[in-house]
Amino acid sequence: MEDHAEAVEEFRIALDGVRLSLGGRPVFRGLSCGFMRGQITVILGESGSGKSTLLRLIAGLTRPDSGAVRVAGQDVARLGHADLYRLRDRIGMLFQYGALLDSMTIADNVALPLREHTERTEADVVAEVERRLAAVGLPDAGPLYPRELSGGMSRRAALARALVTDPEIVLCDEPFSGLDPLNLRRIEKLLVDLNRRLGLTMLVTSHHLASSMRMAHRIVFLTEGRAVAGTPKDLVHSSERAIVEFLDADSGDEGPAGGSGA
Ligand SMILES: Nc1ncnc2c1ncn2[C@@H]1O[C@H](COP(=O)(O)OP(=O)(O)OP(=O)(O)O)[C@@H](O)[C@H]1O
Ligand SMILES: [Mg+2]
Repeated sequence: MEDHAEAVEEFRIALDGVRLSLGGRPVFRGLSCGFMRGQITVILGESGSGKSTLLRLIAGLTRPDSGAVRVAGQDVARLGHADLYRLRDRIGMLFQYGALLDSMTIADNVALPLREHTERTEADVVAEVERRLAAVGLPDAGPLYPRELSGGMSRRAALARALVTDPEIVLCDEPFSGLDPLNLRRIEKLLVDLNRRLGLTMLVTSHHLASSMRMAHRIVFLTEGRAVAGTPKDLVHSSERAIVEFLDADSGDEGPAGGSGA
């Protein structure tokens, strides 16, 4: 499960020796990993391993204490405000929490990136928003306000907004959280279709192992402040203790000391 065989220039996004402490505690201790252009990479790791933080570093929302974060050929950690803003135009991000603006309807929320970053006509924007809401299974949610949606519906609306400009780079933090199995499949298929059709570079964090294995070209597994990367198949055959434990826990086999105590 290593990156040596992969050509470095194929990485659209690459972290090199990133160190970062938050609240006085180290989160990354020399993290190096890469994300290939046009691929879906799923980021796995237990809660607190730094998945959201990794996406925030890539979006330039958090700066590393040291090391490089290269996105589309630019070191995000060294960009000034204007350049960072321009780079973010090419990135769509689904945040783990607090995604939608409460004071706007769902349709206006989804339309926002189109209105702010494109020159499209109002009629065009409205039609696009309708299409995007239908694609996430919310054809009738446009006139509603965020408070009128369930948790899973909000996630899907936020995803529609993150994807609406077909950004070259898509960062999705837990797109499957709170989704029923049908909607989970729907969102998984939407991401895979977009990736195939437009060749978007997608980074997806998830706790859902089965869908990760289905959709990922590559997996980046975070453990103890570093990354182990490979194909889903590599992951299954890995002998890394943290990975073996992670996979075992998901299969419900926690060994003699595990179990629910029933
Ligand atoms: N703003 C912050 N201030 C202090 N510590 C933080 C902050 N943000 C994150 N952390 C810490 O950084 C570590 C990584 O957090 P992060 O949210 O990236 O984990 P995660 O892998 O996304 O977890 P989860 O699966 O629960 O979403 C945690 O120990 C967390 O407590
Ligand atoms: Mg997180």
